[in-house]
Amino acid sequence: MDCSVRARIRNPCRPASHLAGDGRRRLAAYRLSSRPVALAAAAAAETKTGPSGASFIRHHLKSLAPYQPILPFEVLSAKLGRKPEDIIKLDANENPYGPPPEVANALGNLKFPYVYPDPESRHLRAALADDSGLESEYILAGCGADELIDLIMRCVLEPGDKIVDCPPTFTMYEFDASVNGALVIKVPRHPDFSLDVAQIIKVIEQEKPKCIFLTSPNNPDGSVINDDDLLKILDLPILVVLDEAYIEFSSLQTRMSWVKKHDNLIVLRTFSKRAGLAGLRVGYGAFPLSIIEYIWRAKQPYNVSVAAEVSACAALQNPTYLERVKNLLVQERERLYNLLNEVPFLKPFPSHSNFILCEVTSGKDAKKIKEDLAKMGVMIRHYDRKEMKGYIRISVGKPEHTDALMKGLKALQL
Ligand SMILES: Cc1ncc(COP(=O)(O)O)c(C=O)c1O
Repeated sequence: MDCSVRARIRNPCRPASHLAGDGRRRLAAYRLSSRPVALAAAAAAETKTGPSGASFIRHHLKSLAPYQPILPFEVLSAKLGRKPEDIIKLDANENPYGPPPEVANALGNLKFPYVYPDPESRHLRAALADDSGLESEYILAGCGADELIDLIMRCVLEPGDKIVDCPPTFTMYEFDASVNGALVIKVPRHPDFSLDVAQIIKVIEQEKPKCIFLTSPNNPDGSVINDDDLLKILDLPILVVLDEAYIEFSSLQTRMSWVKKHDNLIVLRTFSKRAGLAGLRVGYGAFPLSIIEYIWRAKQPYNVSVAAEVSACAALQNPTYLERVKNLLVQERERLYNLLNEVPFLKPFPSHSNFILCEVTSGKDAKKIKEDLAKMGVMIRHYDRKEMKGYIRISVGKPEHTDALMKGLKALQL
C-alpha cells in the first residue's frame, strides 16, 4: 500500500472506535452492550464441558467494539425525572411533527395484520414511483435505509474487500463494513466538510475498493455534494452508494433517476426524516436494473412490515402535509442558525438538512454542554471521536423547542 495516501484503512479485526453515529447506531450496538457480555461470561464460567459459545462466533465479529445503547424514551424519562412529552429531543434528527393524520387512521384500520406482508411492497413501490417519477422496477423498499446499507454490502462485498468512507459521516457505513468483514479506507473530508475528491480518486485508483458511500446532505454537518464532484466519482470503476436520507431539506433534486444512466449508482432515501416515520422503519433505494435483480434475491422476504408499508403509503397520500412540515423545518433551521451564531461559545455550520453542527469554542466542553442541557430536558448530540471532538449537533425542532434550547444555552453562559 502507498503510504503517501492520506487515507486510513481500518482492519475489521482491530477494535472499532466507540463513537456512536446517532441513535440508530447506538441502538444497533445494544445487542453488544456490556450486560449481555457479562451474562455470557457468567454462563461460560458455569459451563465446564464443551467449547465456549463464543468459539462459534465469526472471528472478525469478536473484536467489534461494544457500543453504548441509546436510552429508550421511557428510561430516559425516568432518568431525567420528566414525562416523555416534557423532553425536547434534538439528538437524533427525528421529525417532531410526526406523520400526517392519514397514518394513524390507516394503522387503526389494518385489516389483515395476521397475514404476512407483500415481499415486493407493490403498493408502496407504486406510490414511490408516483412520488419520485422513477418507475417502480428501479425501486426496492427496506426496513429503513439502515437495512439497505447492510443489504447492499452483503450483496457486494467479499470478506477483505475495501470500501471508501469519508468521515465525518454517518457511522453505519463503517459499522456495517466491519460486520461484513470488509476493510474501510477513510478519506477524511476537508475542514469545511466538503469531500476531498482528488484524494478519493487517488485512493480508488491505488486501492481498488469495491464501493464508496457518499451522503448528501451529509450527517453530521449538512453539506451537499455537487453534480461535478459526483460525476467525477461516478466515472471511476467503483459502486457509488449515495445516501439521500435528508435530501428533502436541501434545495437539491434527488438523483434517483440517475440510476438509469449510471450502472454503478445506488440512491438511498427514507421515510424517517421527511415523513416523521422513524419508529415505523421504512426506507427505499433506487437501483440500476443490473443490480436490483440480485438485491431482490438476497433480501429477507418480509423486510417491510404490513404496518410500515401501510404507514408509508398513507404518508404519501398527503403531499401537502409533507411539504408544509418540510417548509416549517427549513424555516426553523434558518432561525436556529442565526440564534446559535449569537452564542459566544458556539460556531454553527450552514446546513442543508434538519440539523446544525456546531463547533464548541472558548474552552467550553461539548460533553458538559450536552449533559447540562439534558438536565434541563433538552437532548442534543455531542461527539467524542477524535476528528469530531468538541462538536455538538442539534436537530431542528419546532419553534418552541428552539426557544427552550436557547433558554438552556443562555443559562450556561451565566
Ligand atoms: C445519513 C443517514 N442515512 C441513513 C439513516 C438511517 O435512516 P433509516 O431511519 O431509514 O434507517 C440515517 C439516520 O439517522 C442517516 O443519518
